Amino acid sequence: MADPSSCEEAAVAERGLSARGARIAGRGQGLLDEGFALYVGDPFDGDRNPQGILNFGTSENKLCFDLIQERLTKPDMYYLEPHLLQYSDTQGVKSFREEIARFLTEYANAPTALDPENVIVMNGCCAVFATLSAVLCDPGDGYLIPTPYYGGINSKTWLYGEMQPVHVPLFSEVSNEGSRPFQLTIEKLETALHRAQEQDIRVRALILINPHNPLGDIYPAQLLKECLEFAHRYKLHVIMDEIYMLSVYDDTTFTSILSFDSLPDPNRTHFMWGFSKDFGMCGIRVGVLYTRNHEIRKAVNQLAMFHGCPGPVQHVLSQFLSDREWLNNVFFPTNKRRLKEAQNTLVDGLAELGIPVLKSSGGLYVWADFRKFLKSQTFEAEIDLWWKLLDEKLLISPGKAFCCYEPGWFRLVFSDSIDKICLCIKRLQQMLHNKMDNSIPDCSSPTEFEVAETVDEPSANYVNTAVDEVSEGYSNLKKIAVF
Ligand SMILES: Cc1ncc(COP(=O)(O)O)c(C=O)c1O
Repeated sequence: MADPSSCEEAAVAERGLSARGARIAGRGQGLLDEGFALYVGDPFDGDRNPQGILNFGTSENKLCFDLIQERLTKPDMYYLEPHLLQYSDTQGVKSFREEIARFLTEYANAPTALDPENVIVMNGCCAVFATLSAVLCDPGDGYLIPTPYYGGINSKTWLYGEMQPVHVPLFSEVSNEGSRPFQLTIEKLETALHRAQEQDIRVRALILINPHNPLGDIYPAQLLKECLEFAHRYKLHVIMDEIYMLSVYDDTTFTSILSFDSLPDPNRTHFMWGFSKDFGMCGIRVGVLYTRNHEIRKAVNQLAMFHGCPGPVQHVLSQFLSDREWLNNVFFPTNKRRLKEAQNTLVDGLAELGIPVLKSSGGLYVWADFRKFLKSQTFEAEIDLWWKLLDEKLLISPGKAFCCYEPGWFRLVFSDSIDKICLCIKRLQQMLHNKMDNSIPDCSSPTEFEVAETVDEPSANYVNTAVDEVSEGYSNLKKIAVF
């Protein structure tokens, strides 16, 4: 029999790819990408394609286009100096970095002024993940990440860096009073780290997202400090993704790691933020890395050469950031109010259908519990439901796309018009209550719902284990109180 590796090499040679190219080409699309591709082929449009797919799966803020458009047409935006059309500092135009440093100092509540020299501007936070992972890790190294999490991180940390996620699985069941569903603890981080070490995986980093995607909750300051200390104990880098930092729509206090007076390990603590979510401009492709580590900046800057942002775009965004009057009196208050209104509308609509959601404070989405609509408590059933909703022309994101370990959770993005949210609820109603043969759940008690409970403590290996494999232990149903 032919050696499979030589067969693979022959196939690669045939296609003209390097082994790396073949690995990249062979990597499947994530579920989020797959759903988005379907949407792009048949997008809903109230006038031109009312039967098209409604996209409640992609995390985009569509609530403040009117404000941004108005601000963009002010004369200060129309400015072009020759240097904006020349090659610039790969780290980002100096005046833009200065503006970003001032902005983050103020909005992240930094105790002292942030240094523009520590800022690197790139074409989105995806690029920040890709470049950071390439310079922090060798192929096969791992990073700890609590699940569920924004699944896009998997490919961004793998395509250049070939890093692998080491999951820290979180579950909805509340173990004691005062804890909350999907609660992260240092003990869970320790367990995951030691399991990885037993498997000879060199863990190099801890990735945290705050406000969280997809949970929409916010890490308390104390837990953040403990996470930073944990990382310091094990010499792990901390990559802190705060891309939703200013999309907090209730009174919960958000603490940025930039606000701490001191960090346990400043040279291994890296912060990212961008314009995609808080400014509703994911199409403009600008993200920011803030790191005090000079060596890491030097290395990331080499790669930032491939991830630069156009000079005129940097100018336009500088104008946005510097207009504090508009930001504080118009943009952020309106954005917050509209986010809250949209979130309420979606949550109320879901409650009427008997779908509870995790209490959320930030981000553009809610984490909703569809478990009672699954034919069985498996990921096959979850994906089956996802396809059925797509047949109904509704795209939402299944928990599996976020490496959730409990089947039946979905993320729904609410940052869209009230009309579309109502249509989303209508399509859900049609699918879940009219077309499925499930019995309609009892909606009279929205503060209670069914939670899959482990029969035994899951013995599966959490490191690099397909989510389906660990789902098998979850078949017992138990009633718990709400979020
Ligand atoms: C948590 C998180 N980080 C990073 C990104 C990517 O951001 P960008 O558009 O800046 O590449 C996203 C996009 O959804 C996200 O949700």
